[in-house]
Amino acid sequence: MKTVISVPLPDHPYNVVVAAQGLDHVGTWLADPGSPLVKPGQKLLVVSNPAIFKHYGDRLVASLTQAGYTVQTCLLPAGERYKTLTSIQKIYDAALAFHLERKSAMVALGGGVIGDMTGFAAATWLRGLSVVQVPTSLLAMVDASIGGKTGVNHPQGKNLIGAFHQPRLVMIDPIVLKTLPAREFRAGMAEVIKYGVIWDQDLFQALEAAPRLDQYRYVGEELLHAILTRSCQAKADVVSQDEKEAGLRAILNYGHTIGHAVESLMHYKGVNHGEAVAIGMVAAGKIATARGYWTEKEAQRQRSLIEKTGLPTEIPSQLAPEAILTLLQGDKKVEDGQVRFVMPQGLGSAFVTSDITRQDVLAALG
Ligand code: GLY
Repeated sequence: MKTVISVPLPDHPYNVVVAAQGLDHVGTWLADPGSPLVKPGQKLLVVSNPAIFKHYGDRLVASLTQAGYTVQTCLLPAGERYKTLTSIQKIYDAALAFHLERKSAMVALGGGVIGDMTGFAAATWLRGLSVVQVPTSLLAMVDASIGGKTGVNHPQGKNLIGAFHQPRLVMIDPIVLKTLPAREFRAGMAEVIKYGVIWDQDLFQALEAAPRLDQYRYVGEELLHAILTRSCQAKADVVSQDEKEAGLRAILNYGHTIGHAVESLMHYKGVNHGEAVAIGMVAAGKIATARGYWTEKEAQRQRSLIEKTGLPTEIPSQLAPEAILTLLQGDKKVEDGQVRFVMPQGLGSAFVTSDITRQDVLAALG
């Protein structure tokens, strides 16, 4: 199965390819004789982490060298705590040692952390090189690799340093999810459920019809392909209408307002991003129901899907609702002092509002 999704941005259109064994064809896609994305003969710097590279590095490098590229690698330690300017410096050092030029490119092989850092290094080295995203986690496949948000964390907050830098190509090989830990798979499914709620009702229904969603091995090739292609299409649709988040793109933050507060108050321990988003979506569903945007039934359908995926639905008991409210005021999603919430509107549609009150939030958290 192979599906090509286009992201038709006027200045830098690109394709997202979802293809089994796609890892072995990245070079062919890049070198496309009709219109090469990166000219064969150029240098490519593959950025990854040791565990991912051990599984998939040889295949990717073989595909690139066979297509005529000269390849070097830069391996960074794995984990969110290494998503820092220190790691970016390491990529710059490798770029310098390898004499990357303007027409060279960087290739990110890994999850969201590697993808965001490689994208940022590519955005800034020599004032901008091409970047190719080869995501290996479900979260990175359906979210981080598409849309050009790149960056690193500041000690005071996640993703505070960054740039928009669209990739030249995103290659998604579903088979690599085989080695993804089950908890990470479920974390990615939270973003998939999000697309079902905010953009694609058919995706939501397909997820509801699935017997199990909690592990890669129970999902099956066909449904997984549909999950990936529909989610990527949703992201491509939104990003191509609003590249720099002037409006519509903010709906992608559904579940993230309270989710980010939960992650932050837990100091990014004990709850991962997808789990926090799942908790945030359930809370947003309660607010939507109280405000009349959603019926009880719609909120229940979302909750059932989240439960079936094995994701949490409740705020961790140690977090006080007041503490969450206080943190929301410092969130990036605050505009003119108002906290902006993404609210669902039926299934498959959403909107952003500043009308949610402290009482609405407290009632949902209580
Ligand atoms: N992950 C949200 C966005 O790309 O806008």
